[in-house]
Amino acid sequence: MANEQDRIIIFDTTLRDGEQSPGATLNVDEKLTIAKALARLGVDVIEAGFPRASTGDFEAVQKIADQVGTENGPTICGLARATKEDIRQAAEAVKPAAKGRIHTFIATSDIHLEYKLRKTRQEVLAIIPEMVGYAKSLINDIEFSPEDAGRSDPEFLYQVLEVAIASGATTVNIPDTVGYTTPEEFGALIRGIKENVPNIDQAIISVHGHNDLGLAVANFLSAVQNGARQLECTINGIGERAGNAALEELVMALYVRRGFYNPFLGRPAESTEPLCNIDTTQIYKTSRLVSNLTGMLVQPNKAIVGANAFAHESGIHQDGVLKHRLTYEIMDAKSIGLTKNLIVLGKHSGRHAFRDRLQTLGYDLSETDLNKAFLRFKDLADKKKEISDLDLEAIVNDETQHVPELFHLELVQVSCGDRARPTATVTLRTPQGEELTDAAIGTGPVDAVYKAINRVVNIPNELIEYSVKSVTEGIDAMGEVTIRLRHEGRTFSGHAANTDIIVASARAYISALNRLSATLNQTENPIHPQTAALA
Ligand code: KIV
Ligand code: ZN
Repeated sequence: MANEQDRIIIFDTTLRDGEQSPGATLNVDEKLTIAKALARLGVDVIEAGFPRASTGDFEAVQKIADQVGTENGPTICGLARATKEDIRQAAEAVKPAAKGRIHTFIATSDIHLEYKLRKTRQEVLAIIPEMVGYAKSLINDIEFSPEDAGRSDPEFLYQVLEVAIASGATTVNIPDTVGYTTPEEFGALIRGIKENVPNIDQAIISVHGHNDLGLAVANFLSAVQNGARQLECTINGIGERAGNAALEELVMALYVRRGFYNPFLGRPAESTEPLCNIDTTQIYKTSRLVSNLTGMLVQPNKAIVGANAFAHESGIHQDGVLKHRLTYEIMDAKSIGLTKNLIVLGKHSGRHAFRDRLQTLGYDLSETDLNKAFLRFKDLADKKKEISDLDLEAIVNDETQHVPELFHLELVQVSCGDRARPTATVTLRTPQGEELTDAAIGTGPVDAVYKAINRVVNIPNELIEYSVKSVTEGIDAMGEVTIRLRHEGRTFSGHAANTDIIVASARAYISALNRLSATLNQTENPIHPQTAALA
């Protein structure tokens, strides 16, 4: 374990806590695609899901364990409440991985004990050795979390952690579940744990935190200064409520300011040895993938991966950067994999060049997906002379969506203008080959298209977000449409890209409706790990 203490372990929970964001629901294939990208990014641990939540969650964790949890790949972790059935299912799901982990948790703050668990401190103290011990009998790598640690009595927390470690926990994770603590408090909490838990040297200290006050990343960095060595984070900071600590922000802070953080890990300040295993050049691509598949847009001014993060608008800044990049830039856009929007392919590029370029970009597509993407590329090359990496990524993300197609958009036609009532006609095809056509009038062309689609699909829903942005610069650019809709309190997202934004809008809507229909066809009600009582 000593060799783990001088580097930071990156534990990614995009597929578990991240997926708990409203509307971010991913299907099994999408989770697998993200897990492969996380492995390329170099995360040490992937928390792949909560296997007890639903059969879909179990299947996703098992598939990721099997296909991504290889000998040289990341550890694959499954979340479990402190119950035998949760722990048994988590162990079963991660079994195919070369390195599997169970992450079990129980709340320790008085407020959670009294109102959620309805248990006394003594009762919780008795559950921990029983459940951690049971987990240990199934697998060696055990992580234990005292939920709501940020608001727990530190003296009680020390006892809880000592018992968990004595029962076999190899990582103890300290969650600021409600994002309440400040960096000074969180750092002091970690220091207190180091100083007061007698067997703490037998476990890695991990941190997990939510961003309700926008302090999650600052809290983690303070925790690192005080002895935390595992950081639990998500791509783009997605997660419950205001989200989790953002992986890209933590990693780039540790990279750009390594001179500051090195001494806290016992290294000389000038050491250039990376503090963690992340390949920073994969950050931008992974961010886009997660945003596209979850439908969770990245705000333009978001640190590291926002569209404006490396843009210099004001004359003074532009002038400075042209004279010397370091005047206004603390990191190079290339370090996160953001290259100039190079023109890479054109109308005459063949299948071979197309596949080669995708491989360079890190996409390893099945023959079927490659064929679909190649047809789209040819179609795009007919409309747009020069195709860049960003266009290719948009095509691949669009064509490799794995939402079961209960409705396929066969045709969309609109008529609109300043003298016309916007009118749309759509034809949707069902898997049985039936073609259903309807038409509608709307306030604008997108509204007319959505109304026409609704007449065919006939599932009540409310559109709660619609966004369109261009993939590249230029008048011939593709437009990317992301939408979110609500049905009976649940949110579903859809995403599509096309040079015609009406077509992209229709396809994004159909994609969200297909997700919604797939969920309606599953009878099971997923369990939410933190709100479900222990059973
Ligand atoms: O926020 C939290 O407390 C969690 C635990 C399950 C670690 O997500
Ligand atoms: Zn959480």
